[in-house]
Amino acid sequence: MVMKKCRLAVFASGSGSNYEAIAEACRDGRIDAEVVLLVCDKPGAKVLERAQRFGTESFVFNPKDYESKAAYETLLVHMLEERKVDYICLAGYMRIVGPVLLGSFEQRIVNIHPSLLPSFKGAHAIQDAVDYGVKIFGVTTHFVDETLDGGRIIDQGAIVYEGNDIEELTNLIHKIEHNLYVKSINKLINKKF
Ligand code: GRF
Repeated sequence: MVMKKCRLAVFASGSGSNYEAIAEACRDGRIDAEVVLLVCDKPGAKVLERAQRFGTESFVFNPKDYESKAAYETLLVHMLEERKVDYICLAGYMRIVGPVLLGSFEQRIVNIHPSLLPSFKGAHAIQDAVDYGVKIFGVTTHFVDETLDGGRIIDQGAIVYEGNDIEELTNLIHKIEHNLYVKSINKLINKKF
């Protein structure tokens, strides 16, 4: 029996280094899946260049062009179902997912966040942790629910950092993210969770 390859969509708003880590792992067989769609809510974002390089179909939209979150999420659900997407991986997607998308992809939307959740939710997690005087930093992958950076945790990775170079720290955290996301997606598609 031929097993169907798992089909992923990645949602991103910015640079897309996590998208690239996922796409690369799919390409070289470390993840037995394919990225069939990149969804981006920021026209001009760097992730779009990366998607082009990997030959991933992109859908770019501006939320302001829609009357509501429900309106654009209805369109997204339609596109995702048309492409038979199994899982959605949020990778720097700077929006709260609404009930329309959550309802159609229950337990099939995951996110990566640059802190040891539930500490330091939100858009400035690394800076917030530094400001708090944290010494053990980390990364979390988790299922997505209707709350900001909420939902059940899948994996975590940690690093001890006592320096004061935020750029160096951010790069170290990104490296952990790229490996952790690959590991978590594998768990997900192999139903090891
Ligand atoms: C990552 O730090 C991720 O954890 C957070 O947003 C950032 C996205 O980075 N949710 P990139 O666009 O994947 O480089």
